[in-house]
Amino acid sequence: MEKLWGGRFKKNINKEMEKFISSLSFDKKLVKYDLLGSIAHVQMLGKCKIISKEEENKIVEGLKQILKEVQESKLEITAREAEDIHSWVENKLKEKIGTVAGKLHIARSRNDQIALDERMYLKEEVLKIQDLLKDLQTSLLLIAEKNLDVIIPGYTHLQHAQPILFPHHLLAYFYKFNRDKGRMKDLFKRMDVMPLGSAALAGTSFPIDRKFVAKKLSFSKVSENSLDAVSDRDFILEFLSASAILMMHLSRLGEELVLWSSQEFNFIELDDSFCTGSSIMPQKKNPDAAELIRGKTGRVYGNLINLLTTMKALPLAYNHDMQEDKEPLFDTVSTLETSLFLMSKMIETMQINKEKMEKSTEDDFSTATELADYLVKKGLSFREAHKLVGGMVIYCLENKKNLEDLTLSELKSFYKDFNEKALEVLKPQSAVEAKNSYGGTCLKRVEESIGKAKQVL
Ligand code: ARG
Repeated sequence: MEKLWGGRFKKNINKEMEKFISSLSFDKKLVKYDLLGSIAHVQMLGKCKIISKEEENKIVEGLKQILKEVQESKLEITAREAEDIHSWVENKLKEKIGTVAGKLHIARSRNDQIALDERMYLKEEVLKIQDLLKDLQTSLLLIAEKNLDVIIPGYTHLQHAQPILFPHHLLAYFYKFNRDKGRMKDLFKRMDVMPLGSAALAGTSFPIDRKFVAKKLSFSKVSENSLDAVSDRDFILEFLSASAILMMHLSRLGEELVLWSSQEFNFIELDDSFCTGSSIMPQKKNPDAAELIRGKTGRVYGNLINLLTTMKALPLAYNHDMQEDKEPLFDTVSTLETSLFLMSKMIETMQINKEKMEKSTEDDFSTATELADYLVKKGLSFREAHKLVGGMVIYCLENKKNLEDLTLSELKSFYKDFNEKALEVLKPQSAVEAKNSYGGTCLKRVEESIGKAKQVL
């Protein structure tokens, strides 16, 4: 196919060089946006009388035809056909409508064109990702509501710390993902700026109407500085940063699903459809989806560092280095979308082993803090109470007992004012019910929190 820049050259491009600079194999993903952007641009050129109405109609018709053929898979984009998607579109257009195709690129450069295509693409994907986050939050709420009063050990350092409600644990993720959604919403606003009309770097001498193009393409603003608009990819970096944080959250939930479905925990059973077996051990059922979500977090972090490094210290304005932004972007989008979808389905379909969860809160000293709090309410300082209960735990461990097994007279041997109520506070249910501070784990607070979460959705 013909180059967009052959005129100044006496020699043909080196074959290896041609392959090296080509982006078509990956930027073909942007074909729809390149065509829609081109249609709006040409309509503007017609409206501003930069080209004739007839030329406008002819070019728009040709572009629409290409779009239709691409969407119906009648037209395939094969690598090596052109340098990039912009050249490919212009070449195809020329095949269809002849030399008038050459007017498409008036008052435009590939530099503002690619900035536009990427913004259009990413705006759509960011909305999709917000919907996927909402689906995941819905799945978490569904399981939370179904298991409202189920108690599990709460952990710090992965050691039993204090009993909590299982829905409280799920809601913790609900709020993490809600902030992720907030970050996506927020970065969308800065992405929603139309760069076309910046041309190569300096703007253009043609009497264009940038607001007209912005309106046609559903952008709420036009960029303020032509040099800035073609030289930055901070909107992609923001997305990659928010994605890295989101994957970090997904990896933690993935890790918990892996742990919870292990024989040691046995808190949940993942649905068969999200697990695989072993080629040698017939009994195995592995939590692959959860593991891979955890694992793919690495590539998303890598994509962020990749583009940050590419952009570092680039002089203004456009540099060909910036072509390297696409693969990390596309890879992050597809990794995120699949991970969110699978996580949501895994949560929705997992079986909860209530008995095992609740059993795990027995015999684990996880209500020792309750006993210390009880003593504080009797007048001890928290430090005295902490020390005293610590001594009781040693006594229990040495005598192979749990705190709940201590008789009243044993209790009194540690502190004379102990009474039967002390035994009551040691039950996991009482410990949970006592945590009634705002944002705490007692049933009433968790129910409130579920109500609020539904409103948030
Ligand atoms: N394929 C290029 C990219 O993705 C498009 C812009 C090329 N501009 C240029 N002057 N070579 O960055």
